Amino acid sequence: MLHTAALRAAATAAALFGALALMACDKKSDPANQAAAGNARDKPGTDTPASSPTIKIGLIASFSGPFADMGKQMQGGVKAYLQEHGETVAGKKIELLIRDTTGPVPEVAKRLAQELVVRDKVDFLVGFGLTPEALAVAPVATEAKTPMIIMNAATSIITTKSPYIVRMSMTLPQVASPMGDWAIKNGIKKVATLVADYGPGIDAEAAFKKTFTAAGGEVIEAIRVPLKNPEFSAFVQKIKDAHPDAVFVFVPAGEQPIAFMKSFHERGLAEAGIKIIATGDLTDDHTLQTIGDPAIGVVTTFHYSLAHDSPENAAFLKAYLAANGAEAGPANFMSVAAYDGMAAIFDVERKLNGAMDADKALAILKGFTAQSPRGPISIDPETRDIVQTVYVRRVDKVGTELRNVELSQFANVKDPGK
Ligand code: PHB
Repeated sequence: MLHTAALRAAATAAALFGALALMACDKKSDPANQAAAGNARDKPGTDTPASSPTIKIGLIASFSGPFADMGKQMQGGVKAYLQEHGETVAGKKIELLIRDTTGPVPEVAKRLAQELVVRDKVDFLVGFGLTPEALAVAPVATEAKTPMIIMNAATSIITTKSPYIVRMSMTLPQVASPMGDWAIKNGIKKVATLVADYGPGIDAEAAFKKTFTAAGGEVIEAIRVPLKNPEFSAFVQKIKDAHPDAVFVFVPAGEQPIAFMKSFHERGLAEAGIKIIATGDLTDDHTLQTIGDPAIGVVTTFHYSLAHDSPENAAFLKAYLAANGAEAGPANFMSVAAYDGMAAIFDVERKLNGAMDADKALAILKGFTAQSPRGPISIDPETRDIVQTVYVRRVDKVGTELRNVELSQFANVKDPGK
């Protein structure tokens, strides 16, 4: 008895030390810190004791503030998966620990991740809607040797920041590059670009420009707008004055597509003959009905549409509705990435028979393949990034609803950003 209590006290002290070390040290290269992180998890190496009754998943995303939809969509996708497949895998119950970054706030994301690995001893860190938050958490995943599954954040570089990161969402270069080809083949020669001024926007701008100019197109104006609270009307006027054939857009899904489309409509750019081409973040299925009819005709390249016609998507949408209720609104690409992330975790746990070993988990994740609601997906073992179909879609009215209707596709697209 005394022996067990003493061990427990030692483990608690080690955990506390680990917490302090992790919180005080930003550099993953500090070996003392790495050791502390290992101890802090109260595990021999990275193995969860086989007797641990649950698989703990820490979901970090913004659930409040301007990007509140991100967390809700991811949680909705996780719930849909558990609704369809049950809450137990390899005899262990899934325990979800939800944490709100109120983002974009990278420091908060990092602190939450540290608490989840040190105090709660989660087996997986998942979520991450926004690139700056994913980047802030990467060293924590490395130090603690905790698999980190990205369910949205889409700047190419993210997976290079920790060997424990696997991405189930997309990258901006992956979805933006095909648009350069499509645009030139569809008579668009002069383009203005408008992107959010941070990682994914800069990636989108560069990837689009590369394929578009290589095929003979010209970018005549390149506008970057702030990530926080952009005021679009002056930027939209600048686009109008430049007289391009089209504007290529990336802004993060959520409130900004609604604001951009409102300005575009109010300033009469469609009447001036300017088309919109974009990544599918702009016509996100969750907010498309709010944008309304001005979205009709917008062409986007993206990896998921609610209108994708497959049995897997039908099953996903049914489970999403059953798990979240109609009041949650339509599912979107972030819920699909979360749903597929859960499929990957279930695959790992089945193969590890419910035990947890971070390096073995990574080896399994690197070979993950699935028939996702979006189509076939796999993880590229070299980059730990997703390989998937990118669809060209156009917003059309289907019955009374607006939909991203798929027109054509590029199969097996890897991230061209690395
Ligand atoms: C990102 O921050 O990486 C991000 C956010 C919203 C998107 C896509 C990417 O729609």
